[in-house]
Amino acid sequence: MCPRRTANLMDAIVKSKKSRVRRIALITVACVVAVVLVGMGTVLAVGGIFVPATYLQPWSATYYQQFTDPRMQLVAHAVLAPSGHNMQPWTVQLDATDTDVLYLYADSTRLTPAVDPFARQTMVSQGAFLAYLQVAAEHLGYSASFELFPNGTYDETNLEESMSALPVARITLAKDPSAATDDYDSLFVSDTNRSPYTEARLTAAQSDALSAVSGSSAATLSILTTKQDITALGELGIEGTRIETEYLPATEESDAVFWGTEQAKNEARSGFAVEGQGTTGLMKYFLQGLITIVPAVNDDAAGAKNAIALTAAGVAHSAGYALISTAANSRAEQVEAGIMYAQFSLRARTLGLVTQPLSQVLQEYPTMAVPYAAIHAKYAPEGQTIQMLVRVGMPTTQYPVTMRRDAASLVYSP
Ligand SMILES: Cc1cc2nc3c(=O)[nH]c(=O)nc-3n(C[C@H](O)[C@H](O)[C@H](O)COP(=O)(O)O)c2cc1C
Repeated sequence: MCPRRTANLMDAIVKSKKSRVRRIALITVACVVAVVLVGMGTVLAVGGIFVPATYLQPWSATYYQQFTDPRMQLVAHAVLAPSGHNMQPWTVQLDATDTDVLYLYADSTRLTPAVDPFARQTMVSQGAFLAYLQVAAEHLGYSASFELFPNGTYDETNLEESMSALPVARITLAKDPSAATDDYDSLFVSDTNRSPYTEARLTAAQSDALSAVSGSSAATLSILTTKQDITALGELGIEGTRIETEYLPATEESDAVFWGTEQAKNEARSGFAVEGQGTTGLMKYFLQGLITIVPAVNDDAAGAKNAIALTAAGVAHSAGYALISTAANSRAEQVEAGIMYAQFSLRARTLGLVTQPLSQVLQEYPTMAVPYAAIHAKYAPEGQTIQMLVRVGMPTTQYPVTMRRDAASLVYSP
């Protein structure tokens, strides 16, 4: 064979070898990409990417229009209110004889006794419902007046039965052409933003506008913006979170109402999900799929670490705190505090601000006794009860809206 032909042959062999190697490399890469894509697709599918989120329906601006009864139109708005553990512990009864009247009851099947042993936060959540209902009423041309505990207050020795028997509020609507509100659009914006806020301080105008919600309430609102207060309350917030993560009944209670897939969220429509930590978009489905396939990713140790880190980051970036207190701690005062909290939080959003309650140090279980006493000694020296501690500031990121029950499911029909 002539040397030239030999060289050509060698060349061809080398080329064919190279192209085989390239082909194998390409096939390998394609296989890896395919495996990753199938894996990601499986995780996203398990996380519910193809499942419509019916648990978000109440957030639609037109959701209320499916109801013809104005009382139900208002309930359809009030269901957007914040509640402890997002339990939405509300039952409504429409007065059969007076179409201007409805009653709000606390739902005793939706209590969280570990973190809320006296159902105090459940009562605050009743107030939040009333405040949301009132803003919706004003937007739709009604005034809504409340009579709290119209049939008397609870028998504390028989609380759950009392909750079913005695309404928290009798709500009376009246057509009112002068009714108006600035806060209607804020009803449709997520209530709780757990992220760090910007460095911007609260302006005097913002503080004044927030303080204006206090009106003639039985609850008192204080807005604290000094560096000392922000540091002291932030430290208490972290300490409270740490103690709560070490309190097994509390972590078990939260775990029991945490839902990790779209299917589960569509069934529960209350409680917690990954949105509560600000997770949205594809990441939401990915995380849900991951924790369903590998539950250890979201075990109590990981949850505790996350919760403490989230609180620490949040309190390090807050423009101020709101404290809502009441002279004593009656059921009616707890509800008044809830009305004030929701009015405050709605007004904050109208002003472009965001808020997050930090309730742990206000909780009444034994291991929380030391920080509970410390915050009351410093900020409630006359023996008041602090009902809500709330961070406030300018958002660095918007939080997604979270699960809400269907308004019709709140209606008690004997
Ligand atoms: C009485 C009460 C206590 C709350 N405590 C806390 C809290 O300690 N930490 C927190 O991050 N959110 C707290 N929240 C906010 C709820 O978790 C929140 O409203 C609920 O999960 C629904 O989420 P959303 O309001 O963002 O839609 C509280 C709300 C209420 C009414």
